[in-house]
Amino acid sequence: MTAMDLRKRRYLEAMGIQVWVPRGIAAPALENESPPAVEHPPVFVEEAHTALIPAAEPAPPVLAPGAELNDPQVATMDWDTLTARVAKCTRCPELVANRTQTVFGVGDRSAPLMVIGEAPGQEEDKQGEPFVGRAGQLLNEMLRAIGFPRERVYIANVLKSRPPNNRDPKPEEAARCEPYLKRQVALIKPRLILSVGRVSAQNLLKTDTPIGKLRGQVHSYQGIPLVVTYHPAYLLRSPQEKRKAWDDLKLALRTLREATP
Ligand code: URA
Repeated sequence: MTAMDLRKRRYLEAMGIQVWVPRGIAAPALENESPPAVEHPPVFVEEAHTALIPAAEPAPPVLAPGAELNDPQVATMDWDTLTARVAKCTRCPELVANRTQTVFGVGDRSAPLMVIGEAPGQEEDKQGEPFVGRAGQLLNEMLRAIGFPRERVYIANVLKSRPPNNRDPKPEEAARCEPYLKRQVALIKPRLILSVGRVSAQNLLKTDTPIGKLRGQVHSYQGIPLVVTYHPAYLLRSPQEKRKAWDDLKLALRTLREATP
């Protein structure tokens, strides 16, 4: 069994997809790697996690063309200044009124891989860290399956504040927040961006093309290769799509390897 086969098996098992092994053939151990830290994979797949579930994948948001807010100061900020600016950002009154705190981003600031999601959910708003709910656990497993434990990537969102009732970000909110994300990307200089979910992909790529058509190819954001995959919350609701997500992760890994000297 190749390393990729092993990773695939591990990914499928971690994500609650049954792996069939013919009778009499013992499944090989996974190359000195500890098993994925999934506490309850089957329950994990079946449960509905409404707090984290974005709107149905196919509905595209309409983005005002060139709507990004022009904020030249942000483009030169260092990490501390940027972090402080985001923490006291009041550009979106409705978000400010509803949030507990901003959710800046987390992880390795020199990571080759950056994950960009949609916006904080209830748990993220409470803890101040992206992807800490059930979808976050699945994201962690997806990353681990391609050899990137959570601590070795940088994770951020299109929006730094939770939209009320987890509604989709409004185009103007995404536009006001984009300078912060762009600065994060510029500071990290990742070799690859993994965009998770329709809202992330459509906002980053400034398109209303459905996610099904955006995945499977390498795009570019700020000159950095970008691969699109499904949002883990969507995968929790639609486990049959996990195999496609695995294809996306393989594409991401291949692209990352090609981009690494
Ligand atoms: N969904 C996201 O897109 N981002 C988070 O941080 C949590 C859930």
